[in-house]
Formats: sequence, structure tokens, C-alpha cells
Amino acid sequence: MISPNEYVKDLIPYIPGKPIEELERELGIRGAVKLASNENPLGPSALALRAIEKSLTSINRYPDGDAFYLKHKLADRLGVNPEKLIFGNGSNDVIDIVARTFMKAGDEAVMGEYAFIVFPIVTKAVGASAVISPMPNLTHDLKDIYSRITPRTKVVFFANPNNPTGTMVKTDELEWFLERVPENIVILIDEAYFEYVDEPEYPNSLNYLDLGKSIITVRTFSKVYGLAGLRLGFGISTEDIVSHMHRVRQPFNTNSSAQLAALAALDDHDHVSRSRLVNREGLLYLTRELRKIDVPYTPSFTNFILIDLKRNPFPVYDSLLREGVIVRPVANYGLNTHLRVSVGLPEENERFIWAIKRVLGS
Ligand SMILES: Cc1ncc(COP(=O)(O)O)c(C=O)c1O
Repeated sequence: MISPNEYVKDLIPYIPGKPIEELERELGIRGAVKLASNENPLGPSALALRAIEKSLTSINRYPDGDAFYLKHKLADRLGVNPEKLIFGNGSNDVIDIVARTFMKAGDEAVMGEYAFIVFPIVTKAVGASAVISPMPNLTHDLKDIYSRITPRTKVVFFANPNNPTGTMVKTDELEWFLERVPENIVILIDEAYFEYVDEPEYPNSLNYLDLGKSIITVRTFSKVYGLAGLRLGFGISTEDIVSHMHRVRQPFNTNSSAQLAALAALDDHDHVSRSRLVNREGLLYLTRELRKIDVPYTPSFTNFILIDLKRNPFPVYDSLLREGVIVRPVANYGLNTHLRVSVGLPEENERFIWAIKRVLGS
């Protein structure tokens, strides 16, 4: 009988949601709204769509494995040397490359109790252990994370803001942490929701890249740029760290349509600002309405909101489905009374509020 390596046996597979068409068929409903995967409800940028169309006639060719044009444009935009950038098939790929580059069996990675689920997966897949820092108020506690660093620690992972909690680490907390962490420990800061944050106390981790620490900032085209289906993310770090990661990266890990779409999306400032506005207004609407019906939520700095039903959320989740609203249970994170709701278009947010009122009888 075939058997996977011993680390793989202990991994719990990620359970993806069903395709929306399949759910509609099963439940006999139409026009369901999907507020389950923190996607951009406005859709992709029109400029990106045009670039994708143009790219199609060349898909018989392998993509540019170095993402030359995208790398230079993004480097220029971010004000960093192009050699500090590495691309991935989604930012998840970059996170995976970090684990495979810097960890092996017996090593440790420190991460929060409700950290993004990909961190423990990539850690355990290489045989390392995930050392967990509690998050009693659903926020990363960098002092506690620091206290869990041992000589076996190779990587510290955290998303800022974090998924699924929506919470963020502030500048003073990050600076306290960075002053103390030894420089041989990789600090992966996942900023997938960077563009949505509008807070003076939110730290841009790129400002600390030249401190002499081993910071890897990870960002994505899946959220505000609306290209989740094309899979394109990137890491920014020192030339040295990035050069190690390139050895592990698959040579053609980002596809040609994605590279061209991302190049175009970077120029679509109007799409980005509309996306941020729709999100900000959607979050305001959702929080106002949730307060009216006394459903507790965690204040969010992202494009989703975590609500606490204070009871088994699955019956509510199922009833919402029947009302045509797909949200995300997060029991796989150990959040056993919560649901995560992505911010949608105004009419989608209204539909969710209407549905939850009906389901909760409020
Ligand atoms: C914390 C975090 N990182 C990264 C991602 C996005 O991953 P990718 O760039 O692979 O689409 C998500 C998306 O849900 C996320 O929540």
C-alpha cells in the first residue's frame, strides 16, 4: 500500500467551498451571492481583462520565468531593487517557497493560534513544528510570539492584517518585535490585505527591510487587484534571502496571462480606488447593521468581517445558504462559534443582512 511521508499523514486537508453553480443546483436556488473567499466583488480591472485577451495567442509559449517586465515595474512602484522581488503562483506559493527554503524536519516556526491556515500547512509539510502563540483577543501578540522563539525557531509567520480575524499589529508592536528578533530568524509578514488598510498606526513592513533583519513581506494580486483566479503573488526581501528562494522556486511558477494582467492592473488606479471605496463603505454598512441586530463582530482592517454567533454556527451557515448567501465557517481555525463574511457589492451586503436577520429571527 502506498503511504505518504510521515508529515503528510498528520496534515488536515484544506476544504474548499463548492462551486457556486453546484450549490445552486443542490439547493434549488438561483442568484446566490458568494461572500466566502475575500475576493474583489467588483471583478477584475478592465485593463487587466484586455491584457489577458491579448496574452492568449501566446499561451503555446512558456511564460517568462523571471517575470522581467512585471518585476521591474513593481520594483519601481515599490521603490526597491528588482532583485529583492520574487513571484509566486499566488502568494501562497511564495509562503510555501519560504517554508521549503528555510525549514527542515525538526525545526520550529512560531505563529498565532488563529493565524492564516497556510502557515501551519507549509510548516508541517516540511516536517517542522508549528509553535502556537495564543490569541485571546483574536489579535497577534508579538511579545508572546517573541517569548516562544527557541534555538530551533527558523521562521515566524504572521499576516498583517490577519485572516480570519481581520485584526492588525500596530507600528509600535512591530518595532518592539523587530528590535529583538535575532537576524537569523525569518520573519514572514503576509500583507495580502495591505491595500485595504487605512489606519495611521498600520506599519508598512517594507519600511523595515533595510534594518538588517530577515523580513520577507508577502503581497498578492488576488485581493484589491481582483486577479485571484490567475494566481499571482510576490515576496519582497533582501537580495540574499530572495536568491536562496529562487533555488527552490519552480522555474515557471507564474503564468504569462497573470504577468500581463498584473502589469495592466498596476496601471488601473481607478479600479484600485473604487475597490477600496466599495470595501470601506461595505464594511461600514455591515458593522452598522450587525450592531443593530446585536451580532458581535471583530473590528476588521480587511475586506471581510468575523462575526461571533455565540453558538454552533453551522445551522446558521446552512440556513444562510438556503437564503442564497454563501459565507465561510471557520471552525477549521478553532473558531467554533464564528462565521467569516467577505465584503461584497452594496446589494450583496444588503442581501446578507436581510438573510441573517431572517435566519436569526431578528
Ligand atoms: C492572509 C492571506 N494571505 C494570502 C492570501 C491570498 O493568497 P493568494 O495570493 O495565494 O491568492 C489570503 C487569501 O485569502 C490571505 O487571507
